[in-house]
Amino acid sequence: MLLAEIYKELDYIDKKILLLLDKLLIRYEYVPLSVIEGSINVPPRELALRLGRLSEMKLIKRSLTSRTGYRLTFLGLDCLALGDLVRDGVIAYLGSSIGTGKESEVYIAKSSKGAPLAVKFYRIGKASFQKVSRVRQYLTNERCWLIRSKLAAEREYSVLSELPRYTENVPRAYGWSRHAVVMSYINGVELYRCRELRKPTEVLYGIFNALRAAFIHLGIVHSDLSEYNVVVSIEDEVPYIIDWPQYVHRDNPLHLEYLKRDVLYVIKFFKRRYGVSIDVSKALRFVKGEVNEVIG
Ligand SMILES: Nc1ncnc2c1ncn2[C@@H]1O[C@H](COP(=O)(O)OP(=O)(O)OP(=O)(O)O)[C@@H](O)[C@H]1O
Ligand SMILES: [Mg+2]
Repeated sequence: MLLAEIYKELDYIDKKILLLLDKLLIRYEYVPLSVIEGSINVPPRELALRLGRLSEMKLIKRSLTSRTGYRLTFLGLDCLALGDLVRDGVIAYLGSSIGTGKESEVYIAKSSKGAPLAVKFYRIGKASFQKVSRVRQYLTNERCWLIRSKLAAEREYSVLSELPRYTENVPRAYGWSRHAVVMSYINGVELYRCRELRKPTEVLYGIFNALRAAFIHLGIVHSDLSEYNVVVSIEDEVPYIIDWPQYVHRDNPLHLEYLKRDVLYVIKFFKRRYGVSIDVSKALRFVKGEVNEVIG
């Protein structure tokens, strides 16, 4: 079932239960049933039915220990974020999933004026779950992932709400709630899937342009730049750098190393795939704002 359809199944009291579990995320691994009973004003039998239904819908999860308790799942948090974004008028419609990254699920959406938007719901931890669970059981605590996902969304929003003032080469954020960020939808393909580009050098310059704006105006470095985190618009071949939550501020003593790594990485990619030759040190000086041209 689509997320928007799941959301429509919820009534006021269901949402109150989800909100309570979210509010108590910091306090409890599983919120004890007694605490839920004390906060949600419905008869215990009705509450039990509702908790059972929400568990079946996979919006909450019951503890497997003898002490009955419940926690929110990512899907439950998705519903809360969706509710906020619609209430606040950030989106008017949520469509289907358009991309699953290692740490997120991205949906297409529309504004009240019908403009296409992308909603990125963070899923930090999911991908690494299998790998780490055998070795370190405590890392499989989904509650921490929910909290980390919220932090990631907040960080990405902080960048994408500011940076479009200085460069056209990043999506523009329109809102954020909990672990979800709403941004302009780019009708394009990731750079790694672009077999041919009409003007590869221009695309590379567009990428430098975004790195430079981030460095000069916000004092930050992307730090995870690759052909997977650049989407090139189909219509006019404009590159957009996406996926900013891991950005590093220039207070970080390693920030210049990350900047160099980002620049070197894309230059090597363009050399390998498109035969474009760019001098690394000149590109780096441009991105740092020391010169105003990449060439020369
Ligand atoms: N604004 C957008 N417009 C259109 N598509 C987008 C947008 N943002 C993300 N996507 C799509 O969703 C995919 C995942 O996005 P993103 O890289 O931000 O997430 P991620 O989970 O951090 O990815 P990963 O960890 O795998 O690099 C992208 O590869 C792209 O296909
Ligand atoms: Mg990515």
